[in-house]
Amino acid sequence: MPSKKLSARYPTDLDSWKSLKVHYGDDLKNKTIASLFCSEQNRATKLFVRSNDLKLDYSKNLLNHKTIKIFEKLLKEVSIKESIESMFSGENINTFEKKPALHVALRSKLSDQVALNIDDISDVWSTQERMERFVSTLHSGGVCGSTGKKIKNIVNIGIGGSELGPSMSISALRDYWIDDIRFHSVSNGDGVELLDLLSEIELEETLFMISSKSFNTKETINNAIIARSVIEERFGSRSIKHHFTGISNNEIAMHEFGIQQDYQFKIADWVGGRFSLCSAIGLSLACVIGMQNFRKFLEGARAMDMHFRHAPFVENMPMILAMIAIFNSNIVGAASQAILTYNTRLKLFPAYLQQLHMESLGKNIRIDEKKVCLDTSCVIWGGAASDGQHSYYQLLHQGTKSIPVDFILPISKASQVDNYYNQVNCLAQSEALMEGSSSERKEQIYDGNRPSNVILFDRISPEVLGQLVALYEHKVFTQAVIYGVNPFDQFGVELGKSLADSLADCIEKGIPYKGKNSSTKKLIELINDSKKNS
Ligand code: F6P
Repeated sequence: MPSKKLSARYPTDLDSWKSLKVHYGDDLKNKTIASLFCSEQNRATKLFVRSNDLKLDYSKNLLNHKTIKIFEKLLKEVSIKESIESMFSGENINTFEKKPALHVALRSKLSDQVALNIDDISDVWSTQERMERFVSTLHSGGVCGSTGKKIKNIVNIGIGGSELGPSMSISALRDYWIDDIRFHSVSNGDGVELLDLLSEIELEETLFMISSKSFNTKETINNAIIARSVIEERFGSRSIKHHFTGISNNEIAMHEFGIQQDYQFKIADWVGGRFSLCSAIGLSLACVIGMQNFRKFLEGARAMDMHFRHAPFVENMPMILAMIAIFNSNIVGAASQAILTYNTRLKLFPAYLQQLHMESLGKNIRIDEKKVCLDTSCVIWGGAASDGQHSYYQLLHQGTKSIPVDFILPISKASQVDNYYNQVNCLAQSEALMEGSSSERKEQIYDGNRPSNVILFDRISPEVLGQLVALYEHKVFTQAVIYGVNPFDQFGVELGKSLADSLADCIEKGIPYKGKNSSTKKLIELINDSKKNS
């Protein structure tokens, strides 16, 4: 993060930003991406980078070699290298909350010298050792429910970063699942999802993982309380300690809930929820794929950390993706960004990235407390192609606004079936978006000139998933440095939470609404009337 002094300069005041605008107007605006392929030799080879197992083809964007040079200058002008070092060295880069943001420490080695000045950094390794012991006892049948039956169902109760990461990664790594352990996830706070699940699984064999950094998120705690009362009713109050683990920064709350010491896993205060998959929040993942594979996932993330920290800009994949995203949304004029994964296993990856990007970058106030001067609110959405081809791709091809795409494509065959179908579709869509086509019939004209990146890798494995997760974490960080915003807080979410607290009594207990909003008042009356009549 830029210090207050550094971020005092708006990116739009920088020489590089001004040159970028002029360059776009003079050299690119009236061209098409397809025409750049004709005028530049070896474009596909030049606008291509590798990092460990990942390959990125970014040639299908409206940019050229000069654009890349200006991107590089811009990153120098915002002191990106210093910001990266501030993160790795454990400075309080989460400025408003006065905390470091040290998710990189969760996968680091001692020799990486990450945040050696932070006292509790060694807790990272002791927590991993405790996770390892727990996972190995579980797999050997030593973790049992209150009636002595081996645990076979893991139910994660969490929301946001305490749910999206475990669910996404477990779904992505299905080919690594250990026999006899099944994963379920409950996040929505109305209890319906939980009760539906409880009616389907064998409670004697079920372990709930209450995943919540704060251990006071309403949805999670409501679900946890329902689960606890169901277990208590069925097996008695002494059974609770056999059926609940807790993953949190809040040890007192875990203890008060009834979670036994050995089943409590602490996450540090310096791990942000949406950056927490490499912490003990990944315990469910470790239970499902084994600790050895979980460590490989961490190694993958570390490999991307090292790449981000040390690779020069022209080879730096997170920085390149970040600059393209900023350029597309602020200069070329993109409406949103789609993440389309040509692989069923990665179907939850877009939702995971949605929180990572939108909770981190959806800010209109900078670290120096001034208004942002760039558009930070690019909507991130997507899904598993080719489902999307038969749903929303029409808008990508012929909608009135251009929506850049990140295509994510494994090369090797998926599971037992050949993956060529996905590869063909991914390449065809990327080309069609760029080339477009002409026709005598107006409704059949595709303008083309729609940008896309293709991220390729051999197959989805723990190492590759770790690299993908860290790739986007660092992309978001780079964007935040340029925008001058803090990507590690989320004050906007808090307002809705506190308002919900204040309305709870009106709806739960029928206490009259004292606020000023007549719409809220009317809606509360309608809800309470309907309750009286039902
Ligand atoms: O909604 C905001 C948020 O704080 C997210 O950032 C976080 O991932 C989620 O709620 C869950 O928080 P917790 O892990 O504390 O329950």
